[in-house]
Amino acid sequence: MKVTIVGAGAVGASAADNIVRRNCAEEVILLDIKEGVAEGKSQDIMQTAALLGFDTKLKGVTNDYLSTAGSTVAVITSGIPRKPGMTREELIGTNAGIVKTVVENLVKHSPDITIIVVSNPMDTMTYLALKSSGLPKNRIIGMGGALDSARFKYQLATKLNASPSDLNAIVIGGHGDKTMIPLIKKATWNSIPVTNFLTPEEQAEIIQKTMVGGATLTTLIGTSAWFAPGAAVAAMVESILLNQNRLFTASVYLEGELGEEDINIGVPVIINKNGWDRIVPIALDEEEKQLFKASAEAVRTMNNVLG
Ligand code: LAC
Repeated sequence: MKVTIVGAGAVGASAADNIVRRNCAEEVILLDIKEGVAEGKSQDIMQTAALLGFDTKLKGVTNDYLSTAGSTVAVITSGIPRKPGMTREELIGTNAGIVKTVVENLVKHSPDITIIVVSNPMDTMTYLALKSSGLPKNRIIGMGGALDSARFKYQLATKLNASPSDLNAIVIGGHGDKTMIPLIKKATWNSIPVTNFLTPEEQAEIIQKTMVGGATLTTLIGTSAWFAPGAAVAAMVESILLNQNRLFTASVYLEGELGEEDINIGVPVIINKNGWDRIVPIALDEEEKQLFKASAEAVRTMNNVLG
């Protein structure tokens, strides 16, 4: 099966690198508007094939959407990333136009495609992708929750001195420094509630560090992160290609679920060959419900800017 990644910046290249290493696709097209960049990064990655042992063919192209024809999945990473001190929301003006054009080009050549949106502000760009693609809602997925949940597990693992893969923890809500909701009361360490081991102060610290996880990296590096975003994308792509039915939190279109409608926001979903197949019902307590409502309001305010 074929995968297209649009945008050969750091996140796009890291996604390509992670996908080929997983050996789950026959072919990956990396597309960028800047001449030579996708071609160069693709060659560099392909030169690791003999060392890492994968057979996926990665090809870089400059704005050639014809070569993306017949893709099963596309990942949109195009647009400008954040600079230190910027919020994801400040990128909307520039990125909205780019994402809309990319979506139209992708759908023209692959009418049955599933699209994973990474560009920020991610929930609003996912909503825009849905509205401008004409695709069924299940074919448009926003990546944020998968990344934010991995960052939440990193914070928990660090504090508990635990293996990250022994942790079960999700982040719902918007993919913003103030809108994401790490569900710590529902998080477990191989089925044991993590709250058994953490003081209220430690829990608050983990939640806060998770929420500003991306911003912390932007300050340290000078641009937004790419290793964990690329790995999160690859895990989602693999679940689609191999029909794995993995549960991720992802930004999907709600029609009344959790009390919200006409919005893309992070909730638990099953990801398989149908794109996001279904929303997994989750019982929120009063506090979590209030946080989700406030998060949805903030995302909706951002969506209104599109108009
Ligand atoms: C981040 C970007 C990908 O959170 O939104 O690092």
